[in-house]
Amino acid sequence: MTEPQEKETPQTMEAKSYTLMTADVYDAIYSKKNYEAEAQALKGLIDRYKKTDGNELLDVACGTGLHLPYLADDYQVTGVDLSEQQLEAAKKRLPDLTFVQGDMRNFDLQHQFDVVTCLFSSIGYVHPLDDLKVAVKNMADHVKPGGVMFIEPWLQPGVFDPTRPPHTEVGELPEKHLKVTRTAHNSIEGNISILDMHHVVETPNGTQEFTEEHRLALYTPEEFQQAFAEAGLELHHDEQGLSGRGLYIGTKPQEQV
Ligand SMILES: C[S@@+](CC[C@H](N)C(=O)[O-])C[C@H]1O[C@@H](n2cnc3c(N)ncnc32)[C@H](O)[C@@H]1O
Repeated sequence: MTEPQEKETPQTMEAKSYTLMTADVYDAIYSKKNYEAEAQALKGLIDRYKKTDGNELLDVACGTGLHLPYLADDYQVTGVDLSEQQLEAAKKRLPDLTFVQGDMRNFDLQHQFDVVTCLFSSIGYVHPLDDLKVAVKNMADHVKPGGVMFIEPWLQPGVFDPTRPPHTEVGELPEKHLKVTRTAHNSIEGNISILDMHHVVETPNGTQEFTEEHRLALYTPEEFQQAFAEAGLELHHDEQGLSGRGLYIGTKPQEQV
């Protein structure tokens, strides 16, 4: 006879973003996001803007690597993220790819890529504005002449609603028997949107609760324009982008011969 599994008692913890959220919880929450369609749209944009012959792609703030299975056949992919835990999951998903832990403001791979991406509003975690400029410049320095960089922003000022009542989403990973119910409470401090995310994670072993605070800056198109110009990139703005949040596309001039 098998031993009955001990049930964990529910516990509530509070923390900053991506510390208590495991990779499984992240993947469950975004299980309905269409990463494949986004990657296909991205490929079309790469074909349109990239002027180099190579196919090396660097995904900054790659998280658990959910876009990458749809890019890895066409590009030689490297991923960078701040979170060791998210990277571990990405490595498990795609063992043949290279993943490096780093902060988008100061990682240094000593290498330039044909394409650099920073998707799903990860750039919003970088603030204040001077840090945005530093991060955009650092990522741009990793782009080859003739290459292209894509930054998918977080919301613009005025679009984030701090008075919105708490809103709940549910996501599941059926293969791991894991269900997450996440309720976000919005507030704002200056240009920083604050999302207090309360998670209830149910597995056969029991229920866990935790709250993470996500602080994302609400940058204007002019602030992105300035950051791209200072980084030496020519900016193109796609209002719709991959998921409706818009997309900043920066092309690096080819070297003069
Ligand atoms: C919303 S997730 C996006 C992950 C992935 N790109 C996706 O589309 O699923 C934001 C990611 O940004 C990462 N991140 C936050 N601040 C960062 C920084 N300063 N440098 C690098 N990564 C960062 C987090 O660890 C997290 O994996």
